[in-house]
Amino acid sequence: MPLRNVISGKTATMEVRTMPSVLIVYYSRSGNTEKMAQLIGDAVKQEGVQVTIQRVEDTSLEDLTKHDGIIAGSPTYYGSMAWELKKLIDDSVKLHGRLDGKAGGAFTSAANIGGGNETTILDILNAWLIHGMVVQGDPQGDHYGRVSINAPDERVEKQCRRYGQRFAALVKKIAG
Ligand SMILES: Cc1cc2nc3c(=O)[nH]c(=O)nc-3n(C[C@H](O)[C@H](O)[C@H](O)COP(=O)(O)O)c2cc1C
Repeated sequence: MPLRNVISGKTATMEVRTMPSVLIVYYSRSGNTEKMAQLIGDAVKQEGVQVTIQRVEDTSLEDLTKHDGIIAGSPTYYGSMAWELKKLIDDSVKLHGRLDGKAGGAFTSAANIGGGNETTILDILNAWLIHGMVVQGDPQGDHYGRVSINAPDERVEKQCRRYGQRFAALVKKIAG
């Protein structure tokens, strides 16, 4: 959240804003999703937006409230997200209403093309929408979020960079 510190007196008004920020939270067992988190995070950072990249195991509910945007990543497990991320999302009911208006995004690594990667992304985005978060699609490349088949290759690296750039632009608009 941008911090608006308004000091109003008879003669002066001062407004101080912090840089917009993004949380990238992920689960990864064998490192593929983790590499995507890093690629997306690097691109967000290059756009002048603060980034925190952390494993879901190290992420508290309070962490979800501290940023203007949240991007979540998980391997595709049986066409959906790993339970570790689903648990964080289910626990986030305690925050219901407090994530309203933030930007939301998702990415996944799966073993197979058509192995349930887009359903995984849509499951994450569903939760963000229910929280009232803003989700932007992409008319080019991976439309819903970012998908890697196993470890990111050159195509995925490019797509992750583009995702980070677009997400940073969205967050800047939201943070105003
Ligand atoms: C429990 C389990 C379920 C999986 N289910 C799927 C699946 O439904 N579709 C698929 O394409 N890959 C599936 N995979 C493969 C992983 O999604 C894939 O190896 C992914 O790259 C792992 O990401 P990570 O390196 O970030 O852990 C499954 C793997 C495991 C361990």
